[in-house]
Amino acid sequence: MIDRGRIACERLRAKLATAEEAASLITSGTTIGMSGFTGAGYPKAVPLALAARIEAAHAAGDSFRVRIWTGASTGPELDGALAKADGIEFRLPYNSDPIAREKINRGEMDYFDMHLSQVAPMAWQGFLGPLDTAVIEVAGIRADGSLIPSSSVGNNKTWIDQASQVILEVNSWQSPALEGMHDIYYGTALPPNRIPIPLVRPDDRIGETSLRCDPEKIVAIVETDAPDRNLPFSPPDATARAIAGHLLEFLRHEVARGRLPPSLLPLQSGVGNIANAVLAGLLDSPFEAMTAYTEVIQDGMLDLLAAGKLRMASATSFSLSPEAAAALNADMDRFRNSIILRPQEISNHPEIIRRLGCIAMNGLIEADIYGNVNSTHVMGSRIQNGIGGSGDFARNAYVSIFVTPSTAKKGQISAIVPMASHVDHINQDVQVIVTEQGLADLRGLSPKQRAKVIIENCAHPDFRPALADYFRRAREHSYGLQTPCLPAEALSWHQRYIETGTMRF
Ligand code: COA
Repeated sequence: MIDRGRIACERLRAKLATAEEAASLITSGTTIGMSGFTGAGYPKAVPLALAARIEAAHAAGDSFRVRIWTGASTGPELDGALAKADGIEFRLPYNSDPIAREKINRGEMDYFDMHLSQVAPMAWQGFLGPLDTAVIEVAGIRADGSLIPSSSVGNNKTWIDQASQVILEVNSWQSPALEGMHDIYYGTALPPNRIPIPLVRPDDRIGETSLRCDPEKIVAIVETDAPDRNLPFSPPDATARAIAGHLLEFLRHEVARGRLPPSLLPLQSGVGNIANAVLAGLLDSPFEAMTAYTEVIQDGMLDLLAAGKLRMASATSFSLSPEAAAALNADMDRFRNSIILRPQEISNHPEIIRRLGCIAMNGLIEADIYGNVNSTHVMGSRIQNGIGGSGDFARNAYVSIFVTPSTAKKGQISAIVPMASHVDHINQDVQVIVTEQGLADLRGLSPKQRAKVIIENCAHPDFRPALADYFRRAREHSYGLQTPCLPAEALSWHQRYIETGTMRF
């Protein structure tokens, strides 16, 4: 239900409009910076109205397409509806919507897949072109006109600052108790005027709790009450639990060796089944008073906070199941003291990740026997989602861990291959690989040493002999022996899958 009390600034109430009126202020060929990150805090009404407008224009024989920038993935009302209407000409920096993915892979939509920490700086540097409109979901507007951020912060500060006009969606579904949870840092600058970011612990607050916005730029305010894209959560399967088991054993070992403190170091975790299994495993672990400096707070992290195992979590967004979202909203006053949401430029900042010494845990599509990781492209050419924050964290982490089942597509694909068909993370940024088969600790190993451990510890037994055979022959016939390779054969596993539907021999 719409809560009419969310807009405390009388002057701004005069800008109330319908979603259709707001969408009519957007013209074809322009660039729109929308809020939204992992299905949280994205605008839900204006993009739908814009999609309807685009469909009507196309039906009348007129072309109407826009360029869309966001924080990261959004929801069906935004990416799904606009892609279905064939309304997106260009998209950045991350997408996980299936309709948009299909359009991108059919070559019908241009997509710039970027490190998430680099979006705001690149926009400020002028590398991305002008921003015409910002469409931002907020939880409310204070009497002084400042904006209470919603369930994600993403690039909202930058979009509001840079856009020529601003459209706001004030969403009553978002808890009013979100107020005070955010930390919006206004101290970033361009070279040569950059200064150190004064954040030295995950729980440091260095900014403001609200977003500033020039009221003159606000052209429409739309009231909504629709939920975030909260996807149901499936409990971890045996593979995810096995991966989590290996990883937790590794962390225990690192503490025992004195290379990690008993409360670990700030955790960063991707989303999905395996990440949740790892977080669930941490619930029963000996580690206490942990912290998280991450991109997204998912169900597992909320459970750790509720249990008191996690002392606090810093992120830029939530990514919750409907049940976890309800639990959060019901207990927001408590969680507000242990959660900080920041702009993604700060949550993913290389300087801070390196300083804090994060433990980075991310998924992958495939890794090669030398530890180069492909996070984005199936068979080297079909985009799955995007690099997201994995590069921000992997390169700068204290320890950079990648997790994956050893096979994909019902066992027809090996996640460990002779050569990655696309590389997002070079072997120097990949320190540990974990599959349900085991864990490869690659720190301090040469390429040939890495290959041996990855094949023996991580590859599925069905593919292990073929990988070992390739590696043996490569050592015999390779042009050079630093990183043995048979170029004509190295990608033949992918070619076989494309031609026959299996990598199996
Ligand atoms: N070949 C072909 N397809 C593969 C594959 C491979 N080697 N590995 C995974 N896939 C497919 C799966 O089959 C699945 O497809 P489906 O949805 O059609 O069934 C899809 O990729 C997702 O794989 P899944 O095993 O469910 O793992 P996931 O949800 O953990 O996703 C990534 C894995 C790599 C796609 C995901 O982690 C990602 O997008 N990473 C990049 C961004 C990132 O790391 N962000 C973290 C910072 S918060």
